Amino acid sequence: MTAHITPLIIGNWKTTPATLKDAITFIKNLDKKYTASKIKLPKKGYYLAVPEVFISEIVKCSVHGYIGAQNVSGISLGQTTGETIPSQLLSTGSTFTLISHSEVRKRGETGDERAHKVALSLQSKLLTILCVGEQTRDKQGNYLSIVEEDIKQSLSLVSKNLFSNLVIAYEPVWAIGGTTPATPHECFEVVIAIRRALSSLVGIDYAKKVKVIYGGTVTKENAHLFIQEGGVDGLLIGRASQTVSSFMEIINICHGT
Ligand code: 13P
Repeated sequence: MTAHITPLIIGNWKTTPATLKDAITFIKNLDKKYTASKIKLPKKGYYLAVPEVFISEIVKCSVHGYIGAQNVSGISLGQTTGETIPSQLLSTGSTFTLISHSEVRKRGETGDERAHKVALSLQSKLLTILCVGEQTRDKQGNYLSIVEEDIKQSLSLVSKNLFSNLVIAYEPVWAIGGTTPATPHECFEVVIAIRRALSSLVGIDYAKKVKVIYGGTVTKENAHLFIQEGGVDGLLIGRASQTVSSFMEIINICHGT
C-alpha cells in the first residue's frame, strides 16, 4: 500500500448484534474510543456493513464511520418480493454495499445476478465492494485464474468510468471464519492477479483507480502485515469488527501504519 492512501477499514457485522439497541450502544462506544484515540485519525475512518434493518438508525448516531449494507439486489424497481435495490439503500443513508460475499454466493447467487448487482450498485453511486476468492488452493495455481475469471464476469456490465467507485475484496473462502488467514505473501500473489484481470478489462489507467482489500481471519495481531506486505489498500473484517475494542485497535493500527 502506498503511504498516502487512507486505508479502507471495513467491518462486516454479518448477523450481529441481536438488537438495534445493542448496535447503537456499539457505535456510541466505538465513536467515543475513536475520538479519544492517540493516533491522528481522519474525521471518518471506518466502514461498517451492518444488518440492513439497522442502517437508517445507525447512520443517525455514527459520527466517525460510513455505514453500508452486506448485499444489494440487481433487479429494477417494481414487483419483486423481499429484495432491496441500490436507490433504497442510498435513501436510508447507506454509502456502500458489499456484493457477493462467499456466504451470499453459498446461498445460490448466480454469476448473472452478480453482474447485475455490481452494475446497478455502481450506476447508483454506491461505493461497491465486490468480494472474490477461491474455495481451496491447488498446487498448479488454478485458483488465480478462477479469481481472474470471476472478476471479468462480475464486471462485464460495468462501464470503465465507474471503476473509481469499485473495491475488490479478496476473501479466500478457506480463510473466512477460521483460525488460519492467508499469509501476506499468498495475499500479494492474488492481488497481482486481480490487478492483471482489471487491467485486461479496462486498461491500466482505469484499473489503477480500483482499491483492493483483504479479508479472512483478520485480527489485531495480523492486520498490519496485510497493509505492509500484502499489497492491499485495506481490510474486510468479520469477527474482529464485532467487538469495539478489537475493531478500534485495528483502526488505530491501520491508520498508524
Ligand atoms: P472473519 O474475519 O471472521 O474471518 O470473517 C471474514 C469475513 O467474512 C469478512 O467479510
